[in-house]
Amino acid sequence: METLRLVLLFIHILGFAALIGGLLSQMGAVDKVVNGPMRDGAGTAFLAGLALVGVLEAGDGDVNHAKIGVKLVIGLVILGLVMANLRKPRIPDGLFYGLLALSVVNVAVAVFWSSAHV
Ligand code: HEM
Repeated sequence: METLRLVLLFIHILGFAALIGGLLSQMGAVDKVVNGPMRDGAGTAFLAGLALVGVLEAGDGDVNHAKIGVKLVIGLVILGLVMANLRKPRIPDGLFYGLLALSVVNVAVAVFWSSAHV
C-alpha cells in the first residue's frame, strides 16, 4: 500500500507541477490561454489526489478530513475553471492570476497544514 501511495503522490506532484508550469510559462504573454499542461495537470492532480485519499482512508493512519475538504474544493474550482475555458482564444488576466493563486494556495495547504497524515 505504501508503494501505491508513493506512486500516486509522485503522479499527483507531476500533475500540479504541470498545472503551475503551464501557468508560469505564460506570465509574460499578452494573450493567456488554458494550455495543454494546465488542462492535463489539473486533471491529473485532481484524480491522483482523490486516489490518494482512498489509499489513506484504507490505511490505519488518521486522515484530516477538514484539510482534504479544503483541497478538494480548491482542486474542483481549479479543474472547473480550466475545463470551462479550454476553448477560449484568450482568458482574462483575473482568471489567469486566480488560477495561479488557487494552485499555490493548495500547495501551501498541503505543506503547512500539518497533521499526522494529510
Ligand atoms: C492544484 C491542486 C493541488 C495541489 C497544488 C496539491 C498539492 C499537494 C502537495 C504539495 C502535496 C504533498 C504534501 C506533502 O507531502 O507534504 C499533496 C499531497 C496530497 N494531496 Fe494534494 N494538491 C492538489 C489537489 C488535491 C486534491 C484535489 C486532493 C483530493 C481531494 C488532494 C489530496 C492530497 C493528498 C491525500 C495528499 C497526501 C498524500 C500523502 O502524503 O500520502 N490534493 N498535494
